[in-house]
Amino acid sequence: MCGIVGYIGNKKASPILINGLLRLEYRGYDSAGIATIENDEIKVMKNKGRVNNLYELDGINDLVGTIGIAHTRWATHGKPSKENSHPHMDNSNSFAVVHNGIIENYNELKNMLIEKGYKFLSATDTEVIPNLIHYYFEQDKTDDDKKILRAVKSTCKDLKGSYAIEILSIYNKDKMIVVRKDSPLVIGKGNGENYLSSDIPAILSYTKDFYLLDDNEIVELSRDEVKFYNQDLKEIQKPIKSIEWGALSAEKDGYEDFMLKEIYEQPKAIRETVGAKLDNGSIEIEGLNLTKEYLQSLNKIYIVACGTAMHAGLVAKTTIEKLCKISVEVDIASEFRYREPLVDEKTLCIYISQSGETADTIAALKLAKSKGAKTLAISNVIGSSITREADYSIYTHAGPEIAVASTKAYTSQVVLLNILGIYFAEKLERVEKEIINNLKQDILNLPSQIEEILKDTNQVKNFAKKVYKEKDMFFLGRGTDYAVSLEGSLKLKEISYIHSESYASGELKHGPIALIENDVTVIATMTNPDLVEKSISNVQEVVTRGAKVFAITSEDIKNDGLSQVIKIPKTNPLISPVLSVIPMQLFSYYISKEKGLDVDKPRNLAKSVTVE
Ligand code: G6P
Repeated sequence: MCGIVGYIGNKKASPILINGLLRLEYRGYDSAGIATIENDEIKVMKNKGRVNNLYELDGINDLVGTIGIAHTRWATHGKPSKENSHPHMDNSNSFAVVHNGIIENYNELKNMLIEKGYKFLSATDTEVIPNLIHYYFEQDKTDDDKKILRAVKSTCKDLKGSYAIEILSIYNKDKMIVVRKDSPLVIGKGNGENYLSSDIPAILSYTKDFYLLDDNEIVELSRDEVKFYNQDLKEIQKPIKSIEWGALSAEKDGYEDFMLKEIYEQPKAIRETVGAKLDNGSIEIEGLNLTKEYLQSLNKIYIVACGTAMHAGLVAKTTIEKLCKISVEVDIASEFRYREPLVDEKTLCIYISQSGETADTIAALKLAKSKGAKTLAISNVIGSSITREADYSIYTHAGPEIAVASTKAYTSQVVLLNILGIYFAEKLERVEKEIINNLKQDILNLPSQIEEILKDTNQVKNFAKKVYKEKDMFFLGRGTDYAVSLEGSLKLKEISYIHSESYASGELKHGPIALIENDVTVIATMTNPDLVEKSISNVQEVVTRGAKVFAITSEDIKNDGLSQVIKIPKTNPLISPVLSVIPMQLFSYYISKEKGLDVDKPRNLAKSVTVE
């Protein structure tokens, strides 16, 4: 969580820093701050609340420094306040630090520093960092140009936890030092200037050339140079990576919100995900070369992820089990990692993470790897942490997703997982070719079918207007309709703050039906012709008890007796969530708008959960 930006060049740093922070607000937005160096002094300005609140600070527009660091916060230690905002300084005001992550042993370090006479002004874990750097800097009696680097290196040795840290120092006013461990950070290379950010989209309008940092690397940036060191301060070389995303992909491009833009981008995103994979013959997936023998040796596949990504995994379970006849377990990363899961070399573990930076998912992957399983990461971000840990990495290529509530990442994950299922199935030859070929064709039809749904959104909008004041809603479905209902319910909670639950329709009678009373809203998804009769009976049971039902069905499904029905194009039930989720996304979106909420930055949430 938290977003950090840095700049060193010949331009005024503050507008670049604030602009970068605004693009990183999805990572946290309860306070923000910047620091620059001017006239031998580090100037820090910070404020509680959104990044835009920085503009309320006296003198913010007068900062002329051409080197600076900046931070937007998602509070972990210490409530959101000006004092707890970053940057934090050491007691002598010689070092300023911004930090993303958590220092787990900060109490111990703080006590050690207090004993040595240091004073603390905030309740954060971060404040130990500038003071530790200062402490080691003062201890070091050699005076050469690596003195600050040595102090940073010693500090990092003491830190337990995760961090991406940017450091400014008055002892070297033309350099910035950066270090990361288990927290994202990229360096953007410019001409006579260099940029830093927690992610690529925030600085995409300045450069397309990036260095991706590995854990424990220390970087020294000047205007013309980027020097990389390993943890023993030995200089190392790193390749530069050119990113193909256009700068516009990180802009709203005329849409009111990023979420709406990303909903409408889904046809394009899925076309990119599919790429040429289904064009001819058997599927090849770049980055993957699993053999028939290996796949035959498997007795279980685990799919592990958090939030929306986990919901995409639930859809894929049905596909992989059906096409490959291998048992698939879907698990929440934070549960998997603490449960001693039964994983060995006969288990393939698939990890899904849009950002590729989710702490629990990465830890779950490392655990499976240590138990001898092969690991496969599915991410949207090239070079993200998870892809560097996994044995194999494949990408959704959905383009940057900025809104906290995930939309296009979900649909592209479902599509890629289905393609992966087909890839396995073609090697395993356990089902008829026709089943596979039909599914391939159905996947290829998805983008135009989504376009069809998006042509007219009035019905969903009107229903949202009718029910936006409600306190509780229920989602029902069977099979993949249940899997997608979980995602619909999550979207509603995330951006409209309406309590909602999703139930497998067959479970209704085992408890939840007790909650159904007059005028309760139920969103019932019924797209599978084989299950529809049973689902309709369940819907009738809630209608009889007074529920208002908004049904999402396929155009080939009869829906006698239901007044509010949205029809989606017919497709294979294995991938129908890619279509049925669209009205659900729009439903949450319109409710959120109706309530006047901030769709892109819902309260308490952050897009990338880089802490446990
Ligand atoms: C957060 C986000 C969700 C996302 C989840 C997993 O909770 O708000 O939208 O699904 O993290 O993120 P990942 O980047 O690992 O897919």
